[in-house]
Amino acid sequence: MSRRKKLSIDQLDPVLVPELIRGTAPPAIDWATMFGNAHPVEVEIGFGKGLFLHTASGRNPERNYFGVEIVRKYQLVAATRLIQAGRTNVRVACADGKIVLNEQILAGTVDDAHVYFPDPWWKKRHKKRTLFTPDFAESLARILKPGGILHIATDVLEYFALMQATLAVLPAFDPMPPWLEKEPEHTLDYLTHFERKFRMEGRPIGRATYRRTTSPWESPEGAKVIEMPDDPDID
Ligand SMILES: C[S@@+](CC[C@H](N)C(=O)[O-])C[C@H]1O[C@@H](n2cnc3c(N)ncnc32)[C@H](O)[C@@H]1O
Repeated sequence: MSRRKKLSIDQLDPVLVPELIRGTAPPAIDWATMFGNAHPVEVEIGFGKGLFLHTASGRNPERNYFGVEIVRKYQLVAATRLIQAGRTNVRVACADGKIVLNEQILAGTVDDAHVYFPDPWWKKRHKKRTLFTPDFAESLARILKPGGILHIATDVLEYFALMQATLAVLPAFDPMPPWLEKEPEHTLDYLTHFERKFRMEGRPIGRATYRRTTSPWESPEGAKVIEMPDDPDID
């Protein structure tokens, strides 16, 4: 990938979402105010260097994209490519996606949600950082409109099975046929950077799509007991 010119925070400002202030109740997001229009909204959690947001926002100028990434450096990398590409329909936040989904996004306001290649956090002491928990799945169900679509992908097949099992107990989600992998037409013609890396390595990738039903988002009582296995080789 070509080396990019560093832009100042002022130059990146049009796509940056202000940081959450610790200890204060974060304000709920009003999409129409954020984007200046009432177009459909897609949300990506853990966007890394932002390839999906860059490609999708260019392909679909009539849709808005909101990304949340916990690492500030990646937020700035993604913001730089979005500004350099002249995108006006994307905003990127540096925050914990769990908090943003739980506390800042209003119920039933999102058309599509994307979670691609979340970190598996094999080590026992890092387990609490796992993104795709039952609570997270319920948050996704809460923010999506009925008929909205959830897209997930990972190269960690144990994690894929866990995500599918987590979603299977929620009446809020109906499984749909997964989207098909297509041959790339250029070096960045991949879903995300991690997809690119793993496909080039020939690794199998789990992908799934779910449609949001009209059911409430909560799981049935007692269904929240699905755990990621420990990797025996990692402490
Ligand atoms: C393995 S990378 C995948 C990045 C990108 N989705 C891709 O496929 O190229 C996982 C990303 O999720 C981010 N992440 C992890 N936990 C997060 C959280 N709680 N909220 C937002 N982002 C998170 C990480 O910083 C990292 O950039």
